[in-house]
Amino acid sequence: MTQDELKQAVAKAAADYVAANVPAGSVIGVGTGSTANFFIDELAKIKGRISAAVASSEASRKRLTSHGIKVIDLNEVEHMPVYVDGADEITAGLAMIKGGGGALTREKIVAAVAGKFICVCDQSKLVDTLGKFPLPVEVIPMARAHVARELEKLGGKPKLRENFVTDNGNVILDVHGLVITGPAAFETKLNQITGVVTNGLFACRGADLLLLATPDGVRSMGR
Ligand code: 5RP
Repeated sequence: MTQDELKQAVAKAAADYVAANVPAGSVIGVGTGSTANFFIDELAKIKGRISAAVASSEASRKRLTSHGIKVIDLNEVEHMPVYVDGADEITAGLAMIKGGGGALTREKIVAAVAGKFICVCDQSKLVDTLGKFPLPVEVIPMARAHVARELEKLGGKPKLRENFVTDNGNVILDVHGLVITGPAAFETKLNQITGVVTNGLFACRGADLLLLATPDGVRSMGR
């Protein structure tokens, strides 16, 4: 199976999960990236089951809207049973690196409101230790050099993501060379650096369920 076929299969499994587990008329959170795009296309087929979606990026908002799915502001939402999104790396303990698409801040905010984070990945994303994928850190532009120096002190090699501005008007430092053995503690530590908006570790609030596409079918891994 190609990687796209795996993403398609896991997207369908996530839509089936929503149809079977989410109360009719719910608002659901929708993530960003190529796997999330496949999910949006599957969600369109069952859109009568939900009242609206909250999007974690402008790109996802546009795709949802193009399918006739209503998109509402997170501030209008009191309860959201699930948030469905991909990841760049995930461990068996369901800690993740996210932000390859640069939407990490909105992703973390939408996930914080959701009852369950459903992560949808192909098997290439499952790792023993996080860090081979460069860790994205969203930074206020005037703090870029300061934050880069602090990240170097922590053993990373930060590189500015060229020609990229987040939906929030900030820049991203992609931090190479990390071996992250304690993701929740490291996530908290990075948040203490002045000028950091968000880092791409989702460990303090990791996924609740991983749907993992393999050539033998979609595996479910929970905590
Ligand atoms: C975007 C993300 C994505 O979830 C992550 O990059 C995975 O993307 P893809 O499904 O395209 O591999 O965090 O900010």
